[in-house]
Amino acid sequence: MTSTEEPEFKPVGPESLLPPPGRLSSVFLDKAEIVIANVDGRYYALDGLCEHAGYPLASGQLVGCELTCPLHGWIYDVTDGWVINPPFGYRTRSYKVRVTDGTVEVALAE
Ligand code: FES
Repeated sequence: MTSTEEPEFKPVGPESLLPPPGRLSSVFLDKAEIVIANVDGRYYALDGLCEHAGYPLASGQLVGCELTCPLHGWIYDVTDGWVINPPFGYRTRSYKVRVTDGTVEVALAE
């Protein structure tokens, strides 16, 4: 995909799977878990398993744009997937989220 192409959105389930504000939910894309965060009505999505040791991020805590993994405390910025506390320099994949005709769709952000 070049920067001028539209990302390829894929369906992951009904709109009812979206979390309420300040909460997280998980969906599956090609059998891979994705965590969706609702930040004041805006939806963001990341790979669902922590880059550190694979813990499910949907069981973490969301405060603003910061998602904390409950196992060892890595904190992700849900807007871009970067880890924002030590150890810095790690990033998980992030996805764009949209709803089309009641279906949630995600696309790899970059
Ligand atoms: S598994 Fe997430 S911080 Fe260790």
